Amino acid sequence: MTEISNVARLSEPLKFAYWVPNVSGGLVVSTIEQRTGWDFNYNKKLARIAEESGFEYALTQTRYAASYGADKQHEATSFSLALLAATERLKVISAVHPGMWHPGVLAKFIITADHISNGRAAVNIVSGWLKSEFTNFGLDWLEHDERYVRTEEFIRVLRGLWTETEYSQAGKYYNITDFTLNPAPVQVPGRAHPEIFFGGNSTAAQATAGRVADWYFSNGKDLEGFKDNIAGVVSSAGESGRGTRQGGGGALPAPRFGLNGFVISRDSEKEARETLREIVEKAHKPAVQGFRDAVQEAGPSTRDGKGMWADSTFEDLVQYNDGFKTQLIGTPEQIAERIVEYKKIGVNLFLTGYLHFQEELAAFGRDILPIVRELESDLARSHGTELDLSSTPEAKTPAKEEVAV
Ligand SMILES: Cc1cc2nc3c(=O)[nH]c(=O)nc-3n(C[C@H](O)[C@H](O)[C@H](O)COP(=O)(O)O)c2cc1C
Repeated sequence: MTEISNVARLSEPLKFAYWVPNVSGGLVVSTIEQRTGWDFNYNKKLARIAEESGFEYALTQTRYAASYGADKQHEATSFSLALLAATERLKVISAVHPGMWHPGVLAKFIITADHISNGRAAVNIVSGWLKSEFTNFGLDWLEHDERYVRTEEFIRVLRGLWTETEYSQAGKYYNITDFTLNPAPVQVPGRAHPEIFFGGNSTAAQATAGRVADWYFSNGKDLEGFKDNIAGVVSSAGESGRGTRQGGGGALPAPRFGLNGFVISRDSEKEARETLREIVEKAHKPAVQGFRDAVQEAGPSTRDGKGMWADSTFEDLVQYNDGFKTQLIGTPEQIAERIVEYKKIGVNLFLTGYLHFQEELAAFGRDILPIVRELESDLARSHGTELDLSSTPEAKTPAKEEVAV
């Protein structure tokens, strides 16, 4: 991918999402103080703060058993639905494992969520790494690349049932015959159906996402790592004839890219670095080590050894989605500059995590987002275009006094 692959993309503002803390223990496996709750009331307030602070999406995690210290977990689809009902504009992406759900049942569930929320439901299809969740439930645990064979069929069923009537699909894992789901999803301009996000880093994951995902989510990466990671997705999308989002070519628009980053914004870079040092120093070592053992089922188990967590150090794993690697750490200005560097290489959306979610997410919207928008405007102008802010959450948020946290 060239530095700036198309000028049109520069007129599109970056989008922002946050991890819903629907599991206990926060986003870092550390005994450092984390003023982050995992219960519904905490999350309801957080979601409302988020939609007032410039966030377009929230992402729930799917977890059935303790891992990385997350001893207690709320189920993702029901939690997402409740958050949709509690908000006005936020889109809520629910993580889902193929293998735990039948795609027809999920398609129906999400249509209902979409109607309840007036077109704001979305899914993140994750192929899984925590083997015991499957085997202790008595479910099949497929070998790594085979999980993606099933995932691809699963996504094709979802899209088929959301966009067609009398839909049929014959495959290795799912067989659908003449099925029509009524009602269909809500018609939203610019959206063909509830958006399909996809998480996975391995070669098989990239190839699958390139063929069928609307959005590819990456774990935290440095700039070079992100370029490497999306190259496989871009090439698979091209091979399968997917067009550009400007409307040319294949049946599906080209995939878009989301990147995870753990945000530590402080008045000085020194303070921010000090906070990172404290998080890592106070890491819950047995939990991080247990997580490290469990994720051997992911990227490290592949034939080419590439994939999620394959090259993660102990320090990286303290944020269990490698969020420190993205280095959104420093002053608001430094973080905003870094964010725009990633935009230049193809990131469309940032998925963010924090130590103290309610306070720091509000601070992100107040202190960092306006600088990002200024830098994005400058970047667009320097390439002969204008940043179009009309569709951003900020533009749609009614003016009101600052949200109290
Ligand atoms: C943004 C993102 C969110 C994810 N959320 C979950 C989740 O909620 N539950 C889960 O079991 N795995 C989740 N995963 C992990 C995937 O299930 C998958 O195991 C992982 O991406 C490893 O894929 P790989 O081995 O193909 O690289 C997520 C991955 C990403 C990138």
